[in-house]
Amino acid sequence: MHRRIIAPGALAAASLMLAIPASAASWSPGAPGIGDPYYPAYGNGGYDVSHYDLRLKYRPTTDELSGTATILAKTTQDLSSFDLDFLLDVSEVRVNGARASFTTSGQHELVITPRTPLAEGTPITVVVRYSGVPSTKSAYGFNTWHRTPDGAVAADEPEAAWWWYPSNDHPLDKATYDVSVAVPNGTQALSNGTLQSTRSQLGWTRYNWRENKPQATYLTTLAIGRFDITTGTSEGGVPVVNAYSKDLGDDDGAARASVERTGELVDWLSGYFGPYPFSSAGGYVPNTTTGYALETQTRVYYSPRQFASGSNASVVVHELAHQWYGDSVSLKGWKDIWINEGFARYAQWLWSEHEGEGTTQELADYVYAEHPADDPFWKVAPGDPGPDNQFDIAVYDRGALAIQALRNAIGDDAFFAVLKGWPQEHAYGNASVADFEAYAEKVSGTSLGPLFDTWLFQPSKPAAPAAKGAAIAGSAAMPQPRSWKKIAATNDVH
Ligand code: TRP
Ligand code: ZN
Repeated sequence: MHRRIIAPGALAAASLMLAIPASAASWSPGAPGIGDPYYPAYGNGGYDVSHYDLRLKYRPTTDELSGTATILAKTTQDLSSFDLDFLLDVSEVRVNGARASFTTSGQHELVITPRTPLAEGTPITVVVRYSGVPSTKSAYGFNTWHRTPDGAVAADEPEAAWWWYPSNDHPLDKATYDVSVAVPNGTQALSNGTLQSTRSQLGWTRYNWRENKPQATYLTTLAIGRFDITTGTSEGGVPVVNAYSKDLGDDDGAARASVERTGELVDWLSGYFGPYPFSSAGGYVPNTTTGYALETQTRVYYSPRQFASGSNASVVVHELAHQWYGDSVSLKGWKDIWINEGFARYAQWLWSEHEGEGTTQELADYVYAEHPADDPFWKVAPGDPGPDNQFDIAVYDRGALAIQALRNAIGDDAFFAVLKGWPQEHAYGNASVADFEAYAEKVSGTSLGPLFDTWLFQPSKPAAPAAKGAAIAGSAAMPQPRSWKKIAATNDVH
């Protein structure tokens, strides 16, 4: 409707229209999805969020979460109504101060109709008062809110936000956050970024967290429980906040022996990826029984199971690599997941080489040889794997193999310039696989279409390994580094 070009002949009619009050026909509802073909209902159309302010209270004994979300946004079309993605029970919504009517629709849509329609380009403040027991709410038959004996954790991909705050739930709409959570004295509440302050009053302690750089909804985390919190600063000057559940049992030592190296590993990765993009770093290990780790921005989530066999610096490297590849530079659509996982896996290969546990080329040769041509591994196209294969092992391993192939094609100088330049090129934004290909072509001055097609898109094993080292590709007996993350084996799939 807006930005219509008016032909000169229509001018008289157009100026006539100006005298008439805007007709109801010019306002339309915002779309219930942002337009991602992998997840058509995720995110919403018609507005862009700049900031979430979440002021919450949580009772570990009953799993009751209540509070207020204040969302700052700007409309991107003339809107009669718009959606937020959310599952808890809403008692009141206000838009720019006025009570708005609301209803639910679909699996996770909160449909908000403001008292008066909103013109394109209007700054809006949306206040949502809500409460609920997150563990009782599902969408599509699943629930990713993880209860622990002493609290709960919100950390999942791509679905995590619906159980604890209303949002435009897609990485395309990143925003800054203030997350303030009151919990009973003796319990801690963790979230992303910097702990601005804590305050105890009337038996409750309120934790005020701030993430001052744009953050995708799925990278926003909340953990409530009894934690031991450690703080420090990396040699390179990055403040580090880590937290360990007081109930890690036998995993406690190995968890700390891994996650306490966060500062060292952030600095080491900066050598490859450039300056660390955020004002804080760290990780937390709650007493969950799920198996995975997740690159929640600045405050990585680690399952204790990641440390069940001893220290695992490799998983820390993987999740910290995502801070550049995935968190600062986020995907445009979920089909672009290689932008995240291929590079986080490649960072583990670089670490393996640093530790003397196999060079990147040896690991590439190993992966190539490990999967015979008829292995379904080669059917998965890391460049567009489909929603069902989004976190298939091929996105990680074939994805990293593609990166080694790129390195061999353009040479180390151009390759490491790309690796470091990319996080700067799209810092705090969004990018696609096609954007990466174009950037690598620009930096290397090489046409890379066939190489990307072969390694990321063809549903078959490439004829030649990514190498140089073809001769050692058959060394199937080469041991896999013990710390190598087996995402397909350890991840909880819902
Ligand atoms: N992105 C996570 C990683 O690579 C793995 C992951 C995939 C995940 N799907 C998930 C984690 C679902 C939690 C929930 O480290
Ligand atoms: Zn990952």
